[in-house]
Amino acid sequence: MTERAAGRFITLEGGEGAGKSTQIARLRAWLERRAHRVITTREPGGSPGAEMIRKLLVEGPVERWDGTTEALLHFAARREHLRSTVWPALERGDWVVSDRFADSTLAYQGYGHGIEPAILEQLYKVAVGDFQPDLTIILDLPIETGLKRAAERRGAETRYENLPLEFHARVREGFLEIAKRAPKRCVVIDATGDVEAITRRIADVVTDRLGA
Ligand SMILES: Nc1ncnc2c1ncn2[C@@H]1O[C@H](COP(=O)(O)OP(=O)(O)O)[C@@H](O)[C@H]1O
Ligand SMILES: [Mg+2]
Repeated sequence: MTERAAGRFITLEGGEGAGKSTQIARLRAWLERRAHRVITTREPGGSPGAEMIRKLLVEGPVERWDGTTEALLHFAARREHLRSTVWPALERGDWVVSDRFADSTLAYQGYGHGIEPAILEQLYKVAVGDFQPDLTIILDLPIETGLKRAAERRGAETRYENLPLEFHARVREGFLEIAKRAPKRCVVIDATGDVEAITRRIADVVTDRLGA
């Protein structure tokens, strides 16, 4: 039997309005032109059960949950997403591109809300085990720019956007710190440029790191 090509797991991270959704659609098209089978997905959510948990997290008043409850909900949704969507796709040899993953929990609940990183690491072990993304792209831009972009596409999912600027500043610093600590897995990309230039940069990084 010939061995099946291994799927790859790529995650896109960054603050509100950084361009994750925009770039994921473009990265998908670029990968498909290279004959990869691709699924795009998102967190929180990405499977029917996890989407139900997403609604609890992204809608409603800011003070609805404390940081610990939020972290538990995110990891519950993440495990369900992995079991139902991500792991089966990788088994089939598909490439999976996710709009946010565990680095968002560390950035938002850890750096943003002050939950101990050691606690989040323990939750990661319980919910995810040793599994990790093959590549994480962090889209970085000034928080005011991101929030302004996000406000222009405003819908019901504003619970995180409504947190104060200081919170978003900690999230941005958190993502940069995460990248510094895991340079083999993470690449930071300046997300202030035009959409097409950022897509090219992401494609270059995917080629470099994963040989797409
Ligand atoms: N490079 C860019 N320059 C200007 N506007 C952008 C850029 N990338 C995305 N946008 C716009 O900013 C808004 C937020 O982008 P989106 O991809 O939804 O961000 P995210 O998913 O990270 O929150 C959208 O209206 C999108 O069209
Ligand atoms: Mg988005």
